[in-house]
Amino acid sequence: MLETVHDDNPLFLELMKLGADHTAIVIGGGGGIGRGTALGLASKGVRCVIADIELDNAKAVADEIAGLGVASLAVPVDATDNDSLAALAEETERQFGAIHVLSNNVGVVHDRALLDATDAEWGWVVEFNLMSIVRACAAVVPRIQTHDAGGHVVNTASMAALWASKPDEVHGVNLGLYTTTKHAVLGYTETLRYELAPDGIGVSCLCPGTVDSNLMATSMRNRPERFGGPEHFDETVGMNPFAMAQEDVGKYVVAGIEDDRTVVLTHASRGRRFVDERAATLAEDFEFFAAIDAETKET
Ligand SMILES: NC(=O)c1ccc[n+]([C@@H]2O[C@H](COP(=O)([O-])OP(=O)(O)OC[C@H]3O[C@@H](n4cnc5c(N)ncnc54)[C@H](O)[C@@H]3O)[C@@H](O)[C@H]2O)c1
Repeated sequence: MLETVHDDNPLFLELMKLGADHTAIVIGGGGGIGRGTALGLASKGVRCVIADIELDNAKAVADEIAGLGVASLAVPVDATDNDSLAALAEETERQFGAIHVLSNNVGVVHDRALLDATDAEWGWVVEFNLMSIVRACAAVVPRIQTHDAGGHVVNTASMAALWASKPDEVHGVNLGLYTTTKHAVLGYTETLRYELAPDGIGVSCLCPGTVDSNLMATSMRNRPERFGGPEHFDETVGMNPFAMAQEDVGKYVVAGIEDDRTVVLTHASRGRRFVDERAATLAEDFEFFAAIDAETKET
């Protein structure tokens, strides 16, 4: 359902009021932020297709949504495989008709200093954090473009898309591969936002702070053989007791879609300082080189 025009929105998109006439695909919806997003969408009555490589988890979330009285479906998908993503889009349309919302949540985290990382480690993190989103958008967005009822894409990056953390700010973990790929997700998503605006499709980048999930464990157990194969990770290690509840994330995603935000933030009040520091550093760099510009023009 399309409603009012957002006066502050430079793209002049009509805002999307989520409702029972909408269908969403939530990839990586079997847990964590994907589960929270799906529950948020379902709270608005949106039909949800929960797609995940771990089908049992997807089924559990689809059952939760059915328990709310909202239609849902669990579909197995491998977000690193174009055919699997095409089959997901096909199955969604077969079951529920037009697709309106795509939420991409597949990702991995890997603790490795940049210069120590092998090609296989880079390949793994790029494939899961960036290319899973690139592939899913290519498979699903053309189907959203086939109707004129509007739509929205939410690509999950991280606050690591907005600044680079020093290891001592993140408990000594080397987040370089993660940060690099999450910055790429923001660049991809912001550009897609401009490309899809003429079609009336909104695009947002979800940049959460810490949310309750088992990302370390799902990263390791779903690592394909070509990137080193699966490994066990103790899910209880490193769990952050102050993480946001999954259920709360959905509220932010729904608000971000309905207000067509460029970036959807959790923990906005805590993260702001780091973005301001980065902006200040960049401003200094601009001033430094603008002075060289001025000298260069004089000669
Ligand atoms: N949890 C956090 O604190 C946090 C913060 C910022 C960003 N993120 C990002 O949020 C996204 C979701 O992570 P999460 O923390 O909710 O962890 P999660 O492990 O709960 O979610 C990832 C989901 O993706 C699924 N998956 C893995 N490989 C897949 C594949 N090839 N195809 C389809 N599904 C696959 C997993 O089974 C899992 O359900 C990631 O991109 C992560 O980087 C997480």
